[in-house]
Amino acid sequence: MNIIAFSGSLRRDSYNAALLRELKALARPEHEIEIAEIRDFPLYDQDLEQSAYPAVAQALKEKIKAADGVVLVTPEYNRSVPGVLKNALDWVSRPYGTNPFAQKPVLIMGVSGGKIGTAIAQSHLRESLEYLDADTVGQPELYLGPAKELFTDDLALKDDSTKELLTKGLAALSHRKERRV
Ligand code: FNR
Repeated sequence: MNIIAFSGSLRRDSYNAALLRELKALARPEHEIEIAEIRDFPLYDQDLEQSAYPAVAQALKEKIKAADGVVLVTPEYNRSVPGVLKNALDWVSRPYGTNPFAQKPVLIMGVSGGKIGTAIAQSHLRESLEYLDADTVGQPELYLGPAKELFTDDLALKDDSTKELLTKGLAALSHRKERRV
């Protein structure tokens, strides 16, 4: 299963980016995870959709279209999805009629400094994905936190139950894909 994954944090020592690296390391050989970057996306501007659609958005859109599944890893900013992640999703979903998420199996997860572990951000993200007609995994829910209790100082995931949840999440994503074959 070919999976494209990206994180909504641009921070160098991001827990969410670390979570994504850990997911890739834990994945079984049949889950081939490619980590994409959204750092260079310009701010969304509908005036550019036809005349100057960004190459970075086109490249990610094509990777999502070609993938068997997508993993989105989101921090929670002010009880919602970080602007950088929403901005990237807005770009790849446009122009109208070219949305690569339609019917696409998607797994979402996130880690935060707080105890509810990005639950509200993920709920907002889920609404956008529903609009985009994605086939979003419902269970397991991956609301992870507090980050400091799950990771070592050098950003290795030390919590075995979180590792187990990540493995279950990937299995659920596979199951979504198999249902579609
Ligand atoms: C946060 N943080 C945060 N945490 C949370 O649980 N709920 C929230 O609504 C917010 N809001 C918020 C806003 C902004 C602008 C920042 C910078 C931070 C704290 C957040 O969980 C923490 O900084 C994480 O470490 C961010 O994820 P990364 O960058 O480590 O992946």
